[in-house]
Amino acid sequence: MSDAGIESHLLPDTAVIDDGRISIGGCDVETLAREYGTPLFIYDEKHLRARCREAVEAFGPNVAYASKAFLCVAMARLVHEEGMAIDVSTGGEMYVALAAGVPAERLVFHGNNKSSQELGMALESGIGRIVVDSWDEIRRIEALVEAGVTAPSVLLRVNPGIEAHTHEYLQTGVTDSKFGFPIAESEATAAIDHVRASPLMDYRGVHVHVGSQVFDVSSFARAIESLAPFVRESEAAEFSVGGGLGVAYVHGEQSDSIKEWAVVVTDAIREAGIEAEITAEPGRSIVATAAVTAYTVGTIKEVPGVRTYVAVDGGMSDNPRPVLYGSGYEAFRAIDADAPRPHRAHIVGKHCESGDIIVRDAAIPESLAVGDVLCTPVTGAYGHSMGSNYNKVLRPAVVFVANGESRIVIERETYEDLVARDAR
Ligand code: LLP
Repeated sequence: MSDAGIESHLLPDTAVIDDGRISIGGCDVETLAREYGTPLFIYDEKHLRARCREAVEAFGPNVAYASKAFLCVAMARLVHEEGMAIDVSTGGEMYVALAAGVPAERLVFHGNNKSSQELGMALESGIGRIVVDSWDEIRRIEALVEAGVTAPSVLLRVNPGIEAHTHEYLQTGVTDSKFGFPIAESEATAAIDHVRASPLMDYRGVHVHVGSQVFDVSSFARAIESLAPFVRESEAAEFSVGGGLGVAYVHGEQSDSIKEWAVVVTDAIREAGIEAEITAEPGRSIVATAAVTAYTVGTIKEVPGVRTYVAVDGGMSDNPRPVLYGSGYEAFRAIDADAPRPHRAHIVGKHCESGDIIVRDAAIPESLAVGDVLCTPVTGAYGHSMGSNYNKVLRPAVVFVANGESRIVIERETYEDLVARDAR
């Protein structure tokens, strides 16, 4: 926690603070908040495009954006325009990407429990890759291909049995996990042997994802090292290292760039004597820092001798990460983003839960008042995408900003939307 103004590395690339007021993509944030209402997700389009390009430069054209981090039609189009493939992990994500006009062959289909219906949709649309996760899925794919669709290109997701240094819920590469085929007990070997021999699948290679929000990039090198004999023997043409690169959320955190991550990964793979094409699936590192959420302060409550609660007009429904993972955030005011923040308060939402805290012990500026526009940076990943309608709070609008212009990419929900699917 710092008393100083917000640090620039937590802000989108085009953020400028001029006389205290923050603008992104040439658009004044307070003005955007007044114009579109709050809570509002504001994404810097140039930032998004730059990260996609960085990923393509670092990993080549088959690097896929992990769309679970943030997806809508405009985002899928942007990612496709910038030359990335897209990782979809459900029929819903696949639907959105296809609805955006992304060709099916640019999609990589993930998931630990893909249904026959989802697999059918993928195969019939001509999906680029399926990352196979279980024996049940293998049987489902084979049944569909036997029934007449073309055999898909598949990667096999393996579980290396290592602990990445991150939150327990964000670790996916430990042996006790629902994801992938464990290397342990030769499960992965048996699955690879099966897939390679099957005329009903076109074996492409191996996939591993060790976890998410991993700061220590040596975790990736360790996973690769432990998997190397397996990958060499499996004669993979493609080796995907998944996603997981950590990003800085709060004062004092530093993270590696996509380029730096790619160098570590590529070196480890080549040193291990693996010649496969290297691909990856960054999600958070593409979108997290690209966005800020703007809220309006509605209530400020002093609990004498205890603390101050600053309540804003959103909360765990637009950012469940603090309550799920204990994640930290910063907060700053849109009109004096570089001002000192000498006071402390819990920034809370409007939900009927004591755990609805967006920023615990936030550093806040002098004279924060009801009606002020308060922003939290680094909310571009897993905020809107994991949002909910809890307490029937409306899902926020999302705007993309660039070159002094803003455009709505997701409309704010309306009260009518809340009853649109209810029987009446
Ligand atoms: N590939 C696979 C197979 C994944 O499971 C994930 C994330 C990614 C790629 C992208 O990882 P990223 O680069 O975004 O770290 N809701 C959590 C994160 C869950 C990530 C799940 N899988 C959060 O808010 O931190």
